[in-house]
Amino acid sequence: MSPQEQWSAVDDYFAQLLVQSDAVLEESLAASKAAGLPAIHVSPTQGKFLMLLAMISRAKRVLEIGTLGGYSTIWLARGLPADGKVVTLEFDPKHAAIARQNFARAGIEQKIDLRLGRALETLPLIEDEAGGPFDLIFIDADKISTCDYFQWSLKLSRSGTVIVIDNVVREGEIVNAQSSDGNVQALRRLNQMLSREPRVTSTAIQTVGGKGYDGFAMVVVK
Ligand code: SAH
Ligand code: DHB
Ligand code: MG
Repeated sequence: MSPQEQWSAVDDYFAQLLVQSDAVLEESLAASKAAGLPAIHVSPTQGKFLMLLAMISRAKRVLEIGTLGGYSTIWLARGLPADGKVVTLEFDPKHAAIARQNFARAGIEQKIDLRLGRALETLPLIEDEAGGPFDLIFIDADKISTCDYFQWSLKLSRSGTVIVIDNVVREGEIVNAQSSDGNVQALRRLNQMLSREPRVTSTAIQTVGGKGYDGFAMVVVK
């Protein structure tokens, strides 16, 4: 068994035992695939982790940057009370349309506020609305702008807000200071920013599984 085969087998084992994916989640992935969306959604075990984080933080207001077909969004919404809301930002109208269908099928539309547009253009509008700080923020859009998304997340936070940033390991390439991958360089700038930012305390966790070798940073606003 190759390492990847083993990671996938273990991920499947836990997914079957603990995640209890259902028709709604499976259909949302199938619909996204059928529409030709890239398969860069979180895995089932990671999706449930996001749901648990929402529960642990007793979140009522969640911000997600990067919706795709809404797979992670559905998991986040399921971690919220009935009057909770996920504001999710997506700039590709095709992705947003599939996501809306998936939210309707999941019966969670009332918990979702999808904003179509470039996140750096929709975030200032969200700030102007003054709907209050977010309790939990998941940053998972274009990696180049991650530092900007993090700065916006701080603006939209309160003491105790949890910020999760996806894809900070990139098959280990994150430690390659000479990397020619612009995404990696952007994530290296983010990690530097986290290390120097006095308003937060952070860690990062490497992950393996069906989606390969990557990881996420986890931040709490002081
Ligand atoms: N969170 C999703 C995966 C998101 S993939 C899940 O786990 O299920 C990243 C998404 O970010 C893509 O749909 C892409 O279209 C979107 N995106 C990329 N650049 C963006 C931008 N500038 N503003 C908003 N969304 C963006
Ligand atoms: C990519 C983006 C993601 O958000 C992810 O989780 C995996 C891969 C990508 O752009 O390659
Ligand atoms: Mg991601």
